[in-house]
Amino acid sequence: MFSVFGLPIPISATELLLASAVFCLVFWVVRTWRPRVPQGLKSPPEPWGWPLLGHVLTLGKNPHVVLSQLSQRYGDVLQIRIGYTPVLVLSGLDTIRQALVRQGDDFKGRPDLYSFTLITEGQSMTFNPDSGPVWAARRRLAQNALKSFSTASDPASLSSCYLEEHVSKEAEYLLGKFQELMSGPGRFDPYSLINLSNEFGEITASGNPADFIPVLRYLPNTALDLFKDLNRRFYVFVQKIVKEHYKTFEKGHIRDITDSLIEHCQDKRLDENANIQLSDEKIINIVMDLFGAGFDTVTTAISWSLLYLVTSPRVQKKIQEELDTVIGRARWPQLSDRPQLPYLEAFILETFRHSSFVPFTIPHSTTRDTNLNGFYIPKGRCVFVNQWQINHDQKLWEDPSEFRPERFLTTDGTVNKVLSEKRVEGNLL
Ligand code: HEM
Repeated sequence: MFSVFGLPIPISATELLLASAVFCLVFWVVRTWRPRVPQGLKSPPEPWGWPLLGHVLTLGKNPHVVLSQLSQRYGDVLQIRIGYTPVLVLSGLDTIRQALVRQGDDFKGRPDLYSFTLITEGQSMTFNPDSGPVWAARRRLAQNALKSFSTASDPASLSSCYLEEHVSKEAEYLLGKFQELMSGPGRFDPYSLINLSNEFGEITASGNPADFIPVLRYLPNTALDLFKDLNRRFYVFVQKIVKEHYKTFEKGHIRDITDSLIEHCQDKRLDENANIQLSDEKIINIVMDLFGAGFDTVTTAISWSLLYLVTSPRVQKKIQEELDTVIGRARWPQLSDRPQLPYLEAFILETFRHSSFVPFTIPHSTTRDTNLNGFYIPKGRCVFVNQWQINHDQKLWEDPSEFRPERFLTTDGTVNKVLSEKRVEGNLL
């Protein structure tokens, strides 16, 4: 019997010594095991982390800020550990372009995360470790469906495409809601309508500790419970829409993306590029991916725009003046007016840059052993891409914490193309 502070512990000193030795051995093996680095390459630098937990406590509530600070010290390519899992963290515009664009095939994978299995019953196109021909065929189908609705138009409508028609209708509803609130008694508090939380993104962007430390899945975890509930509700909501579309589907009268995917199921078309035939489930679940990707992001973007307008009356006035001069008050703005509205464009760019409300991309993973900036990255390494760091990089923006749409305008008042391409928000895809 062993005793600590006078309390008897029902194991012998030998058993305790043995258990400690086994623990230390396992810890040492795990810590010192590193993939063999080929000659001429280095392993990415790694800040000191806690035993067992790694850097999970260091990341805290704002991992994008902490990782940006670490990148100043360790460089654009660094490695952290969440539990025992090594995670590569990328910062810097050139490095991220190099990885996601020039070496896109090496970095196009997605890690096999537990939280991904909770999305679309594990059948999502995006949150899925598959990066093979089935994934590529689904991605092409999604891209084509989106493209056709942003180019095809209803001949009876003044809008340039179906997408514009839908967006204009939604904008009208939103303005109607504002007017209704403004005509009511008392003050209209826009903050009550502004929901700045991106619940889905918060879990998926830099993973959840439970993705990397399995025991956390079995302990009380409010964030994970909310995420499960959100996904369940969303699944039911979209399935209902899909069922309604099936009931009212008419061949030759394609109303939207869901219809076009149903048509694809019925035609059982082969993917020309890969000769792959996708199951109906794999096709229809793309609706979930598109709805999911476009829903929370666009809502959050609108909320942030409203917040900046409310808090920057000077900017709001300049946008109003531009709209009044270019369009007037007799008609709604249209997509074709966009090139004549540079200040509005600059405001949108600055809203995305300054808020960076999607601070990380969805985690990537390497599809093969690769070399990034002289660092050896083995196949299957989980990769966090810190977009927030680029959007707040002192070297690129001089005063990154200022909200200043003018930074995106040239001296002659047009949008500065070079600078606008430096801002990232998932647009490297
Ligand atoms: C303000 C709006 C939006 C923002 C900020 C945004 C941002 C992002 C980001 C950061 C990614 C992850 C990129 C990566 O992992 O490398 C992404 C992926 C994706 N987005 Fe968006 N997005 C927006 C709107 C939309 C809309 C409207 C749609 C479609 C209707 C859409 C469809 C997708 C899809 C399908 C993917 C996954 C692509 C893949 O895995 O291959 N997004 N988006």
